[in-house]
Amino acid sequence: MVAPLKVGIAGLGTVGAEVVRVIERQAATLTARCGRPIKVVAVTARSKAKKRGLDLRGIDWAKSPLAIATDPNVDCFVELIGGAGDPAGPAIEAALAAGKSVVTANKALIAKHGLKLAALAEKHGGALNYEAAVGAAIPVIKTLREGLAGTGIDRIYGILNGTCNYILTRMEQEGLSFEACLADAQRLGYAEADPTFDIDGHDTAQKLSILASLAFGTKVSESAVYVEGIRSITPEDLRAADDLGYRVKLLGVAVRTAKGIEQRVHPTMVPKTSSIAQVMGVTNAVTIDGQGIPPITLVGAGAGAAATASAVVADIADVARGIRAEPFGRPVAGLKAISKAPMERHEGGYYLRMLARDHAGTAATIATRLAEQDISIESIVQRQPDRGDGKAKSGPVPVILITYATSEDAVRRALKAVQADKVISGRPQVIRIEKN
Ligand SMILES: NC(=O)c1ccc[n+]([C@@H]2O[C@H](COP(=O)([O-])OP(=O)(O)OC[C@H]3O[C@@H](n4cnc5c(N)ncnc54)[C@H](OP(=O)(O)O)[C@@H]3O)[C@@H](O)[C@H]2O)c1
Repeated sequence: MVAPLKVGIAGLGTVGAEVVRVIERQAATLTARCGRPIKVVAVTARSKAKKRGLDLRGIDWAKSPLAIATDPNVDCFVELIGGAGDPAGPAIEAALAAGKSVVTANKALIAKHGLKLAALAEKHGGALNYEAAVGAAIPVIKTLREGLAGTGIDRIYGILNGTCNYILTRMEQEGLSFEACLADAQRLGYAEADPTFDIDGHDTAQKLSILASLAFGTKVSESAVYVEGIRSITPEDLRAADDLGYRVKLLGVAVRTAKGIEQRVHPTMVPKTSSIAQVMGVTNAVTIDGQGIPPITLVGAGAGAAATASAVVADIADVARGIRAEPFGRPVAGLKAISKAPMERHEGGYYLRMLARDHAGTAATIATRLAEQDISIESIVQRQPDRGDGKAKSGPVPVILITYATSEDAVRRALKAVQADKVISGRPQVIRIEKN
């Protein structure tokens, strides 16, 4: 019998407790697949007294995450506490420095300190596996790092935050406001009490920075991502998108351009016929455009105990099998620096919604300002607002435009001129379009 892989787990919350259960429940299958048993030998959490529905008899309760990380009886340190700082970070560093392999689901830590940790893993020979950190059950890290090791990648984009996709789906399907859908998401446990990190796009940005590093061989850099959240999206935008053959999703997009790698997170119009547009509710999805192959779209649960534990246990199984890939798909010394792509240079189609003042010549003024910047219009919809009794309401009229590919700089200049002309009320809405 080959010696078991001895695992120590720090954190027994939603994910950690489920990992202990899965290792127990799947013991025979894991032994058969890995050629050796996987045995949990030590655990820890904040409170030893808390009821967790786990049978921890025969398992050592360590006094701290660091104690597990440095325990000579532990081969693989599994960090399921969360947070980019103490105690998760120092414990992972200690485990790697001791030559152990580490498994974590901690996107914040990988996005902020992934390079340093990867260098430590490389130096001391341990694995650093973090499949669950992006898209939970979706095996996107493995797909990029191993499955597509021989394929150049031009673009990777995805729905990486279930909270935002849930809100946008409800807004679209039920015509509800952003605020109403957010309140429901909080009531159902899909959104945090402080939802800023999710709805303002920062969670997606952390995950995108990790995917971009794997796809393009760049140093993982959250600060190089341009970020916009979904607060400004209205039911009207979603209705207009629907009429024009699009859906609005919060996408993380990393793309190779002539000017370098662009990493951006923002509400995005995607054609209704695209794979990514079919993804509704809390589900996550990632599309990878590999050179010479049709796009690959992976869809699945991006959060939840079972989905996250599924990826964590698969990472532990790789350690048991002796499989070790470089954390970012190549040695750290080979990763290239990346700077923030200036959004003014972004090129693509745009959705523009303006409230045109109700006087003669407004449409002509808008058309002139766009033409001055060489912006061509693909379609235009002018909606007379309804009073509710079927009769047209007087006052500003929504004008919705879809442009052909142009630059962000041109769009910003045209809209500034339109605003200066005082032919529209309020700020124009701008949503970028991503074609498949
Ligand atoms: N939940 C998901 O759907 C999901 C999805 C993808 C990735 N993740 C990632 O998975 C990780 C764990 O998330 P989770 O949802 O399982 O979190 P959680 O339910 O809040 O659990 C955190 C665990 O860490 C323990 N802990 C906190 N501070 C500690 C300390 N100082 N020393 C020792 N233990 C400490 C807690 O102990 P007590 O139980 O005693 O309080 C708890 O058991 C995070 O990195 C998260 O981003 C989660």
